Amino acid sequence: MSQPTPPVPAPLANMGQPVPRYEARAKVTGATLYASDTPVANPLYAYMVTSGIAKGRIAALDTAEAAAVPGVVRIYTQANAPKRQPVKYSNEGGYVSSTAVPLAGPDIRHDGEIVAMVVADSYEAAREAAHRVAVRYAPTDPSATIGSKGVETIAAAKVSPGHKDKKKGDAEAALKAAPVTIDAIYMTPTQHHNPMELFATTAEWKGDALTLYEPSQFVFGLKNGIAAQLGVDPAKVHVVNPYVGGAFGSKGVMTQRTALIAGAARELGRPVKCALTRDQGFTLATYRAETKHHIRMGAARDGKLLAYSHEGWEVTSRTDDYMVGGTEAAVEMWNWPAIWSKVNLVRADRNTPGFMRSPPEVPYIYALETAMDEMAVALKMDPIEFRRINDTMKSPVNGAPYTSRSVMQCFDQAAASFGWSRRTPAPMSMRDGDWLIGYGTAMAVYPSQGMPASARVRLTSDGHAHVQCAAHDVGTGAYTVLAQVAAVALKLPVERVTIELGDTSLPAAPVAGGSVTTASAGSAIHAACEKIARRFGNAMPAGPELAPAFARLGTSSVEEYAEWAPSGSGPDAVKDLYKGKLGGGGGGDPNKKDPKPLMYAFGAEFVEVRINARTREIRVPRMTGAFAAGHIMNPRTARSQYMGGMIWGMASALLENTELDERRARYVNDNIAEYLIAVNADVPQVDIIMVPEVDRQVNVLGVKGIGELANVGTAAAVSNAVYHATGKRIRDLPITMDKLI
Ligand code: MOS
Repeated sequence: MSQPTPPVPAPLANMGQPVPRYEARAKVTGATLYASDTPVANPLYAYMVTSGIAKGRIAALDTAEAAAVPGVVRIYTQANAPKRQPVKYSNEGGYVSSTAVPLAGPDIRHDGEIVAMVVADSYEAAREAAHRVAVRYAPTDPSATIGSKGVETIAAAKVSPGHKDKKKGDAEAALKAAPVTIDAIYMTPTQHHNPMELFATTAEWKGDALTLYEPSQFVFGLKNGIAAQLGVDPAKVHVVNPYVGGAFGSKGVMTQRTALIAGAARELGRPVKCALTRDQGFTLATYRAETKHHIRMGAARDGKLLAYSHEGWEVTSRTDDYMVGGTEAAVEMWNWPAIWSKVNLVRADRNTPGFMRSPPEVPYIYALETAMDEMAVALKMDPIEFRRINDTMKSPVNGAPYTSRSVMQCFDQAAASFGWSRRTPAPMSMRDGDWLIGYGTAMAVYPSQGMPASARVRLTSDGHAHVQCAAHDVGTGAYTVLAQVAAVALKLPVERVTIELGDTSLPAAPVAGGSVTTASAGSAIHAACEKIARRFGNAMPAGPELAPAFARLGTSSVEEYAEWAPSGSGPDAVKDLYKGKLGGGGGGDPNKKDPKPLMYAFGAEFVEVRINARTREIRVPRMTGAFAAGHIMNPRTARSQYMGGMIWGMASALLENTELDERRARYVNDNIAEYLIAVNADVPQVDIIMVPEVDRQVNVLGVKGIGELANVGTAAAVSNAVYHATGKRIRDLPITMDKLI
């Protein structure tokens, strides 16, 4: 049997210390203040009224009854909405997650769009009045999703200049000639992040200066975006966001609500607080859109892959072309000589989707790694040995080398711990009484990226360091590992390091997205510490040597500011970061001649399912994952990231599903009673193995992002285990009892 990982794993080669979480005590004692907790003097409360249709027009809107509710201060509609400047979509160099500006006219573009905002002296009054706003609609038939009448399907390469459909050789001919082929369609559902902390905003003006308390994965984006929308100098905007109660991508790009709330606060001369309700979060923020995949794969009888073809379809809105384009990674994964890929966007009458933990990889690698299992079955090969035959250390597209790739080490270590050798390959061949047992496995993968960042570090002669950086801890452990970066570089015990994050008065840092924080903010902090070391002649004094070294400098403290950008960044990378521009990361163009290396973290995940032979109830008693991601800063926080990722990955296979009323293009289960999320009882045992890996090329710290690694591939591992248990291949997620009967 596999051994449970201890909660504080001992560091192996190339791993830092498993120090406890920096803000652990503050969090468990309730000392951490979140956006809506922050006290402001004499606030007003805003409550949104949202549309009951997905498409059409507001025919009439009557606020008389609502305005009569005691305590109501103002009701905003399209007739009197605060003036806002339109800004561009985030993926097109702008700031917002959707360009559907609410209260700008009578048109309704998606379900749950803001149609009025009530501001009152109390939350209760605002809410009551909101329910008394009478809206009459002139609805038209919406197009809900892939396959619906009236959607517009376009090639992603046409509208997303950054996207290229990778191709190599003649995949069509190679598929035709291949002795063993598979050809299948896979579907993934709509999912919503549902972070515990709701989408809250508190806006307070002092003269012409605005302070915003809002949970954000990108405070500099929010600062510049709100300034552009309200026509104020960005220097007059201060975003305060020390803690984020979960985000998973949903707080990466600002929504349209903030400008309404801050605009109202300016007009009414009082702070305004607003927390969207749980159901409003489903339509006023982003989500993971549903996808469809057509995969064809060809192989020789000895298991060598001959061709891969992957066409993807992703839902987006009518207003914005959001794209994840996961073929980018999928086609690089195994050593096929011929490749064809294409991504399509399907424009529907929906709110604009957005980043959700491993946005491209979760759906696309699910499809790929399920197809890999189907091919192993067709070849009558062990799925791990099949992958070993097709492992590669270079890009099958253009031959660029991987900086490191320990995927088979992960498979081997996890397989040994999990007890894979006890698996009998035939479906339905393992049984325990009424329970059919299935073992399944799949690869996890996530690109290692970096974005421009800056930081300031001050060291005092008494051996304390203070770090300032507007990076974000979205629950991932950023406070802890960034403090460790400074502690290691300055040769201090980590307890002597204090750190501030999540505030635009600090040096700018990139979006807490793409798992870039440790690599990016960490590299900037490291650079500031190196500048400090330079003041001491590049030999950082430690312990008792520190005070005399400061005495020789004739000072009691030194402070350094540093900027960092990944190789391949333009000269204005950090300037653009301060302007709140998303991205700006380095990284190679895989279709260029002298190709940049591929940088990815890898893992292998193993799942045991038990399926009741009579009811088809599905249980997952245990999972094992092994991961290799360069230098591991902190095995304790890393284990937690991996474990959380696998649990979410399991839930994405079996539980998570936003149900869509396809006639009305509306979400049905927009609450966390009916939107199912894994709880402790769903996951008795999750074992995490960290495979040591050294990669000196990815960045100066040698770290690969791990926040979005472990939830990739899990759905395939579960689905492969379900096939092994039952002989049924379910190709649309989530896998539920009804699909197995
Ligand atoms: Mo993550 S979806 O890149 O915030």
